[in-house]
Amino acid sequence: MARKPIIAGNWKMNKAPDEAVAFLRELAPMISAYSNVERVVAPSFLVLTAVAAELAESPIAVAAQDAHWAENGAYTSQVSVNMLSPFIDYIIIGHSECRAYLNETDANVNRKAQAILAAGRKPIIAVGESLAQNEAGETVDFVRAQVSAALEGIRHEQMTDVVIAYEPIWAIGTGKSASGELADEIIRTAVRATVGDFYGGSIADAIRIQYGGSVKPSNMEEFMAQANIDGALVGGASLDADDFAALVEIAARVKGP
Ligand code: 13P
Repeated sequence: MARKPIIAGNWKMNKAPDEAVAFLRELAPMISAYSNVERVVAPSFLVLTAVAAELAESPIAVAAQDAHWAENGAYTSQVSVNMLSPFIDYIIIGHSECRAYLNETDANVNRKAQAILAAGRKPIIAVGESLAQNEAGETVDFVRAQVSAALEGIRHEQMTDVVIAYEPIWAIGTGKSASGELADEIIRTAVRATVGDFYGGSIADAIRIQYGGSVKPSNMEEFMAQANIDGALVGGASLDADDFAALVEIAARVKGP
């Protein structure tokens, strides 16, 4: 089945409000025509309202980089899904940097996924193994466990709103990317197959799964040529308008129509 490719730029802790708006004025005209690719930018919380206002008439969607699962309460520093909802379509959860530095757990990723879907928004659930796990041959088991935990209790009909991003930790920000074939193999056997085990073949076939980790214009074609990879979650290269536009153009060309 044809899955619409989705390219999401995770800006991480980069771009203040004025920088983000200036950047989008450069980027938006370059990528606005590629309607067969879903285009998403994920600024920091502080910048979301300015970005959402700037993109109000644009086909580019906005994502938050995280959310808390509770509606409100005594959670100092946190932002709820309800607070974010007017400004975003997507929320990235389970990013390896949050797992590493902010104590993100599989159980919390699941709570967040449930809260996001209940609010009618779409989670981008990031999973991926460390270098040590990769070298020990644990990748498939580990990623399968992350995917299973994240999806616990999510209903069949909610799965159309779920995006999963496979990001091997050793490939993030390192310049080292997985080969297209290897990434496709892990996505097929550990991510899509796990979705299939729980939800059946047609949902496994329909769910969109991104690759992330040092994606750039020079390797994008290799990833987009893979049958199981439906786009990219991009850090560094999404901060540069020419690079981001090149990634969108390549996805549109390779994935078609
Ligand atoms: P890089 O593209 O900078 O490796 O970052 C990937 C990432 O973590 C996207 O979420």
